[in-house]
Amino acid sequence: STSLLIMLVAAYLIGSMSGARITSRLFNTSSPIEHGSKNPGATNMYRIAGFKPAICTFTIDVFKGTIPLWGAYFLGFQPLELGLIAISCCIGHIFPIYHKFRGGKAVATAFGVLLPIGLELGVALALTWIVTAYKTRYSSIASIVAVSLAPLFVWLLKPKYTYAVCMLTALIIIRHIPNIKRLLQGCEPTIDNKRERNS
Ligand code: G3P
Repeated sequence: STSLLIMLVAAYLIGSMSGARITSRLFNTSSPIEHGSKNPGATNMYRIAGFKPAICTFTIDVFKGTIPLWGAYFLGFQPLELGLIAISCCIGHIFPIYHKFRGGKAVATAFGVLLPIGLELGVALALTWIVTAYKTRYSSIASIVAVSLAPLFVWLLKPKYTYAVCMLTALIIIRHIPNIKRLLQGCEPTIDNKRERNS
């Protein structure tokens, strides 16, 4: 329908706003797409600029996901439609129209779009990410583990959203293929690693 199309476009445009680039300007840091892992996300902002810029990036990238999904939910969109709107928002983060389509991996934004499902889900995902990151020191492993468990958590808490969340999980795992390759080659940087690397 027309209203779904409008929501999909709006979610994409909102998702395209880059928390890392906005934060980089606010804190006057070096460019996240030229330093560290060269990924415009909270993890890389932590690597290149520290804790506060990372938290600022994370907050922007989470709420740009939560706000459109919260709106769409109250406008009465159905679970599968909400799933498409969530994907569209994450596609915006990954391929931002304002930044030559050079975006991030949509981990924080996926967390944001999932928050309206319930606070229990948010806590389960955040704890999974934090524990895995603490144990492994790899942000990418924590992200992959958390998004892989998301369909299971959603199935237990709000089963009608399981199918939609599976699509989101697939998108984010595909986006982490370069990280998976580096992990297998033993050259993935840890959260604190400040060395430069390609792609
Ligand atoms: O949140 C993105 C994370 O999963 C990987 O980031 O900078 O280590 O590629 P990075």
